[in-house]
Amino acid sequence: MLSLNPADCEARQVYKLMTGIIVPRPVALVSTVDGKGAANLAPFSFFSGVGSVPPTILFCPALRAGDSAEAGHRKDTLRNVEETGEFVVNVVSEALAAGANATAADVPPDVDEFQLAGLTAVASEAVRPPRVGESPAQMECRLLQVIYTGHAPGSGVIVLGEVVRFHVREDLLEDFRVDPAGLDAVGRMAGNTWVRTRDRIDLARPK
Ligand SMILES: Cc1cc2nc3c(=O)[nH]c(=O)nc-3n(C[C@H](O)[C@H](O)[C@H](O)COP(=O)(O)O)c2cc1C
Repeated sequence: MLSLNPADCEARQVYKLMTGIIVPRPVALVSTVDGKGAANLAPFSFFSGVGSVPPTILFCPALRAGDSAEAGHRKDTLRNVEETGEFVVNVVSEALAAGANATAADVPPDVDEFQLAGLTAVASEAVRPPRVGESPAQMECRLLQVIYTGHAPGSGVIVLGEVVRFHVREDLLEDFRVDPAGLDAVGRMAGNTWVRTRDRIDLARPK
C-alpha cells in the first residue's frame, strides 16, 4: 500500500484521491432560486442521505477560487440556498445524464440552466425552486443547516436539508419500493466518467 498524508499533498491531488476512492457517487441535480425567483440548476455528487426521521439529505458544494470571499467564492447553488432556505434534489437517470452534465457549465448567475440544458421546469408543491420534469424522482427540501468545513478554495460546505415532499414516477413505485431498473439512476466516478446502476448483486442479510 502507498500511504499518503494529505498534509503533504496538493489540494488537487487530494481531490483526485477522494473522487477516485469514494465511488460510485449518486448525482443530485439540485434546483434552487435566487431572492428574485430566478432558477438555477447544477449537479453535485458529494451527496447522500442522512436519516429518515426526519427525512434528511446532504450535498456539498465546494468553495472555488475567487477574488475574495464575497466575489465568486460561493457557487450559485450555495448562495441561493443560503438566501432562500430551499432546494430540490432531482435524481439523474441515464436519459437525463447529458442534460445534467450540461448544467455544470460555469455560467453567470443570471443564466437559467433549465433553458441551457433544454430541461422542463415543473412547479414544486412546498418550495419555490422548480423540479426537473425529466427526472424520475425528486425531493423538495427545506434547509436545516449549512456547515463550512473550511474557507479555502476546495473546502466543502455541507448543506443539510429536510425532505418535505417526495415525488416518484408512478410506474416506478410499488408499496413504497422504488423499481431500480425503471429509475435507471447513474452515478459519478472520477473525472468525466459516470456509471450505470444496471449491474446489481443481491446479498442476503446475515441473521
Ligand atoms: C456529475 C457532476 C458532479 C459534481 N459534483 C460536485 C460536487 O459534489 N461539489 C461541487 O462543488 N461541484 C460539483 N460539480 C461541479 C458543479 O456542478 C459546478 O461547479 C457547477 O457549475 C455549479 O453550479 P452553480 O454555480 O450554478 O451552483 C459536479 C459536476 C458534475 C458534472
